[in-house]
Amino acid sequence: MLGGVLRHQSLSMLNLLPRAAYRVQMGVARLAGRGLFLVNAPETIRHVLSECPATFPKHHYIEDILKPLIGISLFNANGERWQRQRRIVDQAFVQAALRRVFPVMLEGIDDMLLRLEHASAKDQAWEAEEAMGHVTADIIFRTILSKPLDEASATEVHHAFRSYQEAAQRVMGLSALHLPTFWHRRKCQLKGTAIRESYAPLIRKRFAAWKAGQTGPDDMLGALMVASDPVSGMTLDETDLIDQVGTLFLAGHETSASTLAWALFLLANQPAVQEAVRQEANQLWRQRPPQFGDTRLLETAHNVFRETLRLYPPIAFYVRQANENNCLREKPVAKGDMVVVSPWVVHRHESLWAEPDTFSPDRFSGEGVQRAAYLPFGLGERACPGAAFATQESVLILAKLVQRYHFEPVTTHNPRPVARLTLRSANGIVLKLRPVQGAAR
Ligand code: HEM
Repeated sequence: MLGGVLRHQSLSMLNLLPRAAYRVQMGVARLAGRGLFLVNAPETIRHVLSECPATFPKHHYIEDILKPLIGISLFNANGERWQRQRRIVDQAFVQAALRRVFPVMLEGIDDMLLRLEHASAKDQAWEAEEAMGHVTADIIFRTILSKPLDEASATEVHHAFRSYQEAAQRVMGLSALHLPTFWHRRKCQLKGTAIRESYAPLIRKRFAAWKAGQTGPDDMLGALMVASDPVSGMTLDETDLIDQVGTLFLAGHETSASTLAWALFLLANQPAVQEAVRQEANQLWRQRPPQFGDTRLLETAHNVFRETLRLYPPIAFYVRQANENNCLREKPVAKGDMVVVSPWVVHRHESLWAEPDTFSPDRFSGEGVQRAAYLPFGLGERACPGAAFATQESVLILAKLVQRYHFEPVTTHNPRPVARLTLRSANGIVLKLRPVQGAAR
């Protein structure tokens, strides 16, 4: 399987999973002499992610492939190091409270709509991944650093992330087979540096000013600079700040961008659902501008977001490593073995979902959803601290976009999902968009 992944850029483990993976409670295999466990049963997932996270920390491959980009920071750290960082970064999340970031999100969305007016005027095929990467990167950038992300940087960052993800996937595959990784590591290093340099100079400047006693903007970076760990007293130095901002920037936009691009693809292929999202947004916003709290009222858009996360969870594999000998479902697990929870598999599991491969946002309206089998934001102490942020942002973006444009498929284009750091399409997500006549400006 890994051989296939390494030969074909457009393949990932996702595409090579056997059909049985979607039926079993737990799959067991061996990979280059090590045990590999694919855990599907909700109670075993809970055991690994929620009840015993210290026995199953993040795999050292995660630290390895992300280090050039984010050092060892919140997303890829483990143990006490992670605990200290989490206590600090949690304080910055207070700064990103939903009510505070609501106007920031609207500004980012308005700028996106302006950019789109140019794209749709030319009636060209439109690359959804890139556009969604731009708006989500811009919103998180404004939230962390109180600055918009300019067009040139957004494009550069988008392409650098794409190359980084391809190279990182190779490093992980080759490492698992104990093969040389030098070339791909070098690419990660180069692209990681390019991405870091889109925000590092701003952080250096702000940190120097703060050290010199000047006050700066009241944003996530400001909160990170003043935060200290209540247990150890640790504070973040300049490099730590760049690393943590890297984590927030990466985790805070790649994931939402992936979900939004897939959501638009699904809506383009289901015009009736798209029309329902449009009607709902029109009803709410014809008479008044968007207000904080609207996400709760946009139920159809919210269900589209949830259902997209089910079918296309942006982080498709949670990769853990047993740090002692133990057992899972009565099978022995050796120290060092790989334990994988895949929301991609669990969300499409035949015994957990009715019509698992069908896009049906309404399933989230009723009682029919197996909450224990739905984990796009992870589970346990490593679960996503940005889930509410992502939900508010994505529901607003979807509703605003669909209110303004009809999205249509390009019949010759069929996106091919591939699991990199986030779930991407190997050949992009290309759509046509047509302005809605008489849409509110
Ligand atoms: C649709 C959007 C998003 C999805 C699906 C998502 C999903 C996830 C998942 C599954 C994890 C845990 C991975 C694991 O256990 O291996 C995670 C962690 C994380 N996410 Fe998100 N995320 C999203 C948006 C965001 C946003 C907007 C932010 C920041 C504003 C964010 C910040 C983080 C951070 C910092 C972590 C690491 C937490 C830790 O390890 O302590 N995420 N995310």
